[in-house]
Amino acid sequence: MRYGHFDDERREYVITRPDTPLPWINYLGCEAYFGIISNTAGGYSFYRDARLRRLSRYRYNNAPLDLGGRYVYLRDDETGDFWSPSWQPTQRELEDYSCRHGMGYSIIGSRYKGIRSETTYFVPLGENLEIWRARVTNDRETAARLSLFSSIEFCLWEALDDNTNFQRNYSTGEVEVVDGVIYHKTEYRERRDHFAYFACSAPQKGFDTSRDAFLGAYRSWDRPIVVETGKSTDSIAHGWQPMGSHHVELELGPGETREVIFLLGYWENPQDQKFDPPNTQTINKRTVKPVIEKYLQATAVEQAFDALRDYWMGLLGVIQIQTGNEHVDRMVNIWNAYQCMVTFNISRSASLYESGIGRGMGFRDSSQDLLGFVHMIPARARERILDTAATQLPTGGAYHQYQPLTKRGNNDVGSGFNDDPAWLVLGVAAYLKETGDTSILDEPVPYDNAPGSEKPLYEHLQRSLGYTLDRLGPHGLPFIGRADWNDCLNLNCFSNTPGESFQTTENKAGGVAESVFIGGLFVLAANEMTRIAGRRNDTVEEERCRKASSLMTKVVETAGWDGSWFRRAYDYYGKVIGSAENDEGQIFVEPQGICIVAGIGLENGLANRALASVRERLATPHGIVLQQPPYSYYHINLGEISTYPEGYKENAGVFCHTNPWLMIGEAMTGNGAGALDYYLRINPSAREGISEIHRCEPYVYAQMIAGKDAPTHGEAKNSWLSGTAAWNFVAISQWILGIRAEHNGLRIDPCLPAEWGGFTVIRRFRGAIYEISIRKSTGSTGRVARMVVDGRTIAGNLAPLPARVGQTIEVEAFVQ
Ligand code: GLC
Ligand code: GLC
Repeated sequence: MRYGHFDDERREYVITRPDTPLPWINYLGCEAYFGIISNTAGGYSFYRDARLRRLSRYRYNNAPLDLGGRYVYLRDDETGDFWSPSWQPTQRELEDYSCRHGMGYSIIGSRYKGIRSETTYFVPLGENLEIWRARVTNDRETAARLSLFSSIEFCLWEALDDNTNFQRNYSTGEVEVVDGVIYHKTEYRERRDHFAYFACSAPQKGFDTSRDAFLGAYRSWDRPIVVETGKSTDSIAHGWQPMGSHHVELELGPGETREVIFLLGYWENPQDQKFDPPNTQTINKRTVKPVIEKYLQATAVEQAFDALRDYWMGLLGVIQIQTGNEHVDRMVNIWNAYQCMVTFNISRSASLYESGIGRGMGFRDSSQDLLGFVHMIPARARERILDTAATQLPTGGAYHQYQPLTKRGNNDVGSGFNDDPAWLVLGVAAYLKETGDTSILDEPVPYDNAPGSEKPLYEHLQRSLGYTLDRLGPHGLPFIGRADWNDCLNLNCFSNTPGESFQTTENKAGGVAESVFIGGLFVLAANEMTRIAGRRNDTVEEERCRKASSLMTKVVETAGWDGSWFRRAYDYYGKVIGSAENDEGQIFVEPQGICIVAGIGLENGLANRALASVRERLATPHGIVLQQPPYSYYHINLGEISTYPEGYKENAGVFCHTNPWLMIGEAMTGNGAGALDYYLRINPSAREGISEIHRCEPYVYAQMIAGKDAPTHGEAKNSWLSGTAAWNFVAISQWILGIRAEHNGLRIDPCLPAEWGGFTVIRRFRGAIYEISIRKSTGSTGRVARMVVDGRTIAGNLAPLPARVGQTIEVEAFVQ
């Protein structure tokens, strides 16, 4: 069952009924000001940091799940009837409804008793504000007298405090209303130099800033007293819950349309110019006024919207494919790329499942997000690499997370997730291949942000690998530390106290837990470093990495091999995990994936056997589950993984992040059909028709789909912010379609199912445009046998680097 459809032409997903199984959200903003917005206009906004600079309030886990947001109300002043054009929160039955989620904007429209309305929400490039452009049309044959109300509930900036510290917060709220602009200035009197503003382009009948006055006692957002009666109260909030609402009267003749623009924005004043006049408590508004005036103009809004669309056209234009498979084309050309960008921006901080309070930027997460993003804005990838590397510790280890606002490592979570440093090497390698910008390796970067500790990034990479080699266990495999990629495999924490952290509690010493996964990851990273060192003519490092990689490969192929698949780990006591010897958790997907991606077992048949075991034991129609059999009780020696009920999350859910590793593995071993089959099982567009089962958005990946042991097999959760986005992009574009940036050129190496014909790709790379045609006849399952570049046959399948910027390079690759 579907709740809408893709509009690929406009790069939008069009939701055609408001009661989607879960709120289906989109993101506003791509630089510093961000918001989430649901298909019924729920959500909130923040400046840079969802915890520390939250502009509007949102109550998670509400009933209904999604309540509170950027609500506009309409009231028929003849009859007193009122409704929400976005359906929520009044839930009146609308004559038609649509929500178009696009690239950085959402347009929610509907019709009710002959009144049509459409609100476009977006954040202009370069600004810290969001626009709600409401257009109201009278489709009736007679004139209509209407009232339009805006509404937003302000958050008192620090989202956690806002949710908990009521004894203080009920007294601190302050606003100013001047010339129809509502200013939210809680704590501006003391240490804050920022405020929020909510402005409106039309003359106003009235306003409200006190939630109590607007809603009325014992009422909720579905029937605010002000909307019901059509009378704003011009309330000024003192403490309690400051909010903003404008009241605009509209008289519309038959067929007439009116446009009203609302602006919600964030503004900082210089410390010494906070007040105007000085020595008062009144906000200095002179600095913000020009911005407000500008965006209350229809033409400026139109231009900003066009600029946003052009910006996205440009970003998505870096790679555009035409394969004829709609699920592949629209995900690669539009949605997967878009999700990569959002995930890169927001990391794991703010979605419907991430409260914006709990987690900052993950070291491992950010490094992986880069893989799906680096081709779009390499300059931002560069900045992210340097920020992340600056939180690395002198040992080569890393803070697991850092705060986006301060860019400092998070001490609460600390370090000791022993896979973290290796991901940095992969992120940097991807950046180098995309850009060729080797200068980044010489950038001085501090350790733990300590001034004076700066060393070239290249050394950070060396220490990353050194960190693993300095921590090898009894089998020669890397010590796992608090956890590796799987945050829930906690082999050194034996927790029996509710509420303790599985990751950071230290209650036992002297264990020997090792990770096969980190072994595989190390090989992958060391191979990248071998190439990086080689290109730098650092033969010592090159040789060291080559040796370390081949040594680790041997260890993984022996101590890490179980007979038909790669093992997962050894626990605190040295007992194997992920082996036929175990009763539960006999086979895990992660080591099969990462070891094969690293090239382990490709030549001696281990990879093929591992892939066959995955097909047999882990693959389901809804994707590949994380392990089997699931843990049916709490294993104190394994930790959080066994706390989840069977089939959910890390306990045998389809943890989508891991699936692309298997797609890549299938492609590396020449099984294009298998690779694409895995790809389509979790491709959101391909699952659109089962939206009632999948339940999450059909245009973006979710972190998890309930596994075969779960009663709700096939149900997705935790959509949007997941390494799934980047890795699926890598799997489909680089390994199945096979268009892969390398240090020396663009590799053309598709691995396709027999029934596919050829396809075409436009790829901007190193300043040139590669126009690529893959020629393939149906029936063939081979690889590229011949390649013609600008009319000349070349040896191999690496399209050379451009001779000059702006060049168009024509590539024809013949698959046999
Ligand atoms: C979450 C984390 C990621 C981790 C994964 C598996 O997605 O963000 O870092 O690898 O869970 O536990
Ligand atoms: C929990 C989740 C896991 C996530 C981790 C982040 O363990 O199950 O997916 O990565 O929290 O801290």
